[in-house]
Amino acid sequence: MPTVNELLATGPRATPFDIMRSAYAELIVTDLAASEHFYVELLGFVVSDRTEDALYLRGWEERTHHSLVLRVGERPAAGCVAFRVRSERDLALLEEDFQRRGSPTRWLEGGSLGMGRALRVWDPFGFPLEFFCEMSQFETQLQRFDLHRGAPIMRLDHFNLHSPQVEEGVAFWLDMGFVCTEYIATDGADERFTGAWLRRKPTVHDVAFTVGRGPRLHHLGFTTADTVGVLRCCDQLAAAGYAHLIERGPGRHGVSNAFFVYLRDPVDGHRIELYACDYYTGDPDHRPIRWSVHDARARSFWGALAPDSWYEESMPVLGPDGEPVEIVDSSVDERTARSEVMA
Ligand SMILES: [Fe+2]
Repeated sequence: MPTVNELLATGPRATPFDIMRSAYAELIVTDLAASEHFYVELLGFVVSDRTEDALYLRGWEERTHHSLVLRVGERPAAGCVAFRVRSERDLALLEEDFQRRGSPTRWLEGGSLGMGRALRVWDPFGFPLEFFCEMSQFETQLQRFDLHRGAPIMRLDHFNLHSPQVEEGVAFWLDMGFVCTEYIATDGADERFTGAWLRRKPTVHDVAFTVGRGPRLHHLGFTTADTVGVLRCCDQLAAAGYAHLIERGPGRHGVSNAFFVYLRDPVDGHRIELYACDYYTGDPDHRPIRWSVHDARARSFWGALAPDSWYEESMPVLGPDGEPVEIVDSSVDERTARSEVMA
């Protein structure tokens, strides 16, 4: 079995299927009206569609039908994270690939508004992944400045997943054709990864795989038009009496260079990151950037440490039976790894 560093040197597998990008996520919420107030009235998502038990949302720039689905359920959870593929043929190839891995696979037809059939799978770590090709479109509202609200949120950027198996996760995503752009690791001979950022579209990532109890969804990252929008959204939340929803930041990440703030949905605790100004990564010889876990600038370029809630609290994911997947403890804690050397 090659080491993760050997895998990184080799680069991603040339896959027979073509995953284009992270495309949407489904969050299970317990009170749809209260969630609509947060996501639509406060953050300014655009409503694409609604049913009795679901709300379909998108950013102002997005043409595809939705990048966030809020679906009512008994307990808050992550229903799936979904990726768009280039062609229908890719879906069959992905089904074969996951069946070869021994993963549960399922076809979903007509279950969600605005999209064609989708392939739902559970990856080797228990995460519910979905792949689809067809999605209906709207005209972009990128330049409807007269309508924009909130940051404004322009588009989905990435999913951040919590797992105790980061090295195995990096190997899996490289095998799915993803490129590692940055990672954080402990120093020394027994190097352990505490996070890796992996992409298909030419930005820093579509998926971040970070160490922690899992499988759990840590957050969804949405791109804002500019850095000022991140600050404006904080001002608007505070003015509306929701300053307590600002969990971490605003600040600038070392990893990704993005300007960020992390917000917590007031109803169920889902974590949303507003994210602006990462960088182009599309050259074929783009090499991953390594950060030492002991360098506080990795998580925040200005050196501020993240609160404990940010490391500890994440959202369970749903398994094939519709129940939360069992959560496994992690033997690695980034905070401990950092403080061992700082002490
Ligand atoms: Fe993020």
